[in-house]
Amino acid sequence: MKRIGILTAGGDTPALNATIHGAVIRANQLKVEIVGLIKGFNCLFNPRVPHLYLNPLFQDIPELDPTKGGTLIGSSRDFVDPERKDDLDLIATRLHKLGIEGLICIGGDGTLNGLQPLAERFPVVLAPKTIDNDLGLNYPGEPNDWVRVNDASVKNGFRYKLTSHNAVFDLDHIVNYVTPGYATAVFVSASGVERIRTTAESHRRIAIIEVMGRHSGYIALGTAYGRPDIILVPEHPMDVDHLVERVKHLYDLQKNVVIVCGEGIVDEQGGELGAESKSTDPSGNVILSGAADALRSILIQMIGDRYFQLYRRSESAREAIFTRKVGHTQRGGRPILFDRFYAAQLGAEAVNLLMQGRNNAVSVLQYDSRKGFHVEGYDANRFRDRWGLIHARQMHPALYDPKLMKPSRLGIDYLLPIFTDAIGEDDTAHIRQTLFAAGNLAQPYHSVNTDVNKRICYLQAVQ
Ligand code: F6P
Repeated sequence: MKRIGILTAGGDTPALNATIHGAVIRANQLKVEIVGLIKGFNCLFNPRVPHLYLNPLFQDIPELDPTKGGTLIGSSRDFVDPERKDDLDLIATRLHKLGIEGLICIGGDGTLNGLQPLAERFPVVLAPKTIDNDLGLNYPGEPNDWVRVNDASVKNGFRYKLTSHNAVFDLDHIVNYVTPGYATAVFVSASGVERIRTTAESHRRIAIIEVMGRHSGYIALGTAYGRPDIILVPEHPMDVDHLVERVKHLYDLQKNVVIVCGEGIVDEQGGELGAESKSTDPSGNVILSGAADALRSILIQMIGDRYFQLYRRSESAREAIFTRKVGHTQRGGRPILFDRFYAAQLGAEAVNLLMQGRNNAVSVLQYDSRKGFHVEGYDANRFRDRWGLIHARQMHPALYDPKLMKPSRLGIDYLLPIFTDAIGEDDTAHIRQTLFAAGNLAQPYHSVNTDVNKRICYLQAVQ
């Protein structure tokens, strides 16, 4: 292979440039050209196929900075529909015209779902990314534990459900222990929790902080580092009575409570608290909004004004209980050391996989309690259930203690290898050197897009 294409698909993460950089460095060593495809699959649906050369003369271009969040080649939620054979053929033709012999998709579970039809037309591999940490398997046989259950309220008359886990859960057997972007998202969220705490303490308030993660509670679990009092995850339906009792107990004791909730948390009936709008994004994911607000309404109703007035701590429950979303700050900015280091290795491994002729494969980050982390290749189809579908990984329920509403002992053991040395000295030095740099006040922000634009080439032939 002499020329490889690379694209970033789906929601961005802070570690995408690091993955691209890892791929480019490996390609330089192997004397392979890397072509960046602009805005994910959007580029391949466009007859002009905007693209740029990331390593002319086998040197990476200066715009490719692994310490910068986001992706210099842009991303979109456009996805490949396996049913649209014409689109797939067109994509193959366009890649062929660019002289691209293999493709690296940096993506999540949605991108992985679309990999098979692409792999039938040209060599393609995936390098994982997602702040949600939901691309992977809690144990290798997990896809076999998904079943279809009848549900008249949904389109096909059935939905997928993970039955009880049929394997012993062992951290060393997790497939893709952690995805690039997760560590930085937790770093931002946990820092946010710490900051909200002191203001909740001062004003005798109850704070509900919502973090991302869709239907996976990994980000919420990781915020334990910011020491919230209560963490709610989508994998464990909320027990409202237990929650209210715990909130009151803590409020009596310390005059403030900090609750973290994952955006996908569900009530006792399994209904999503945050699915206020039934809309979906282009890849078909339900857009979640307002889990924290829904939870606030429940607490306001269940605790009531009198409770706060009695203690002279607030005029009303409405005044005392407030919500904040960490939002897109957890997806942006400089990646911390752990993310940069392993994202780069996963990008490099994706190049290796293509060069070894491994089509339809994924570079994964494995953990061994004796030896630590290492990367390897994994066949994409081993992620598929019996119907061929790839499901977003949920946090294994054993990582969470529903009584304490915090990580379980196993959950703590899961988090430690990721976060113990996750922040590099350069990460802290970077803050000191750049945040209050005098130039920030005088000079406007210079977007990498401006420079990348000057490098973009087009395939002129219009289909
Ligand atoms: O999948 C990553 C993610 O950040 C989710 O955690 C979140 O629900 C979603 O993307 C938000 O997507 P968007 O940026 O398109 O609103």
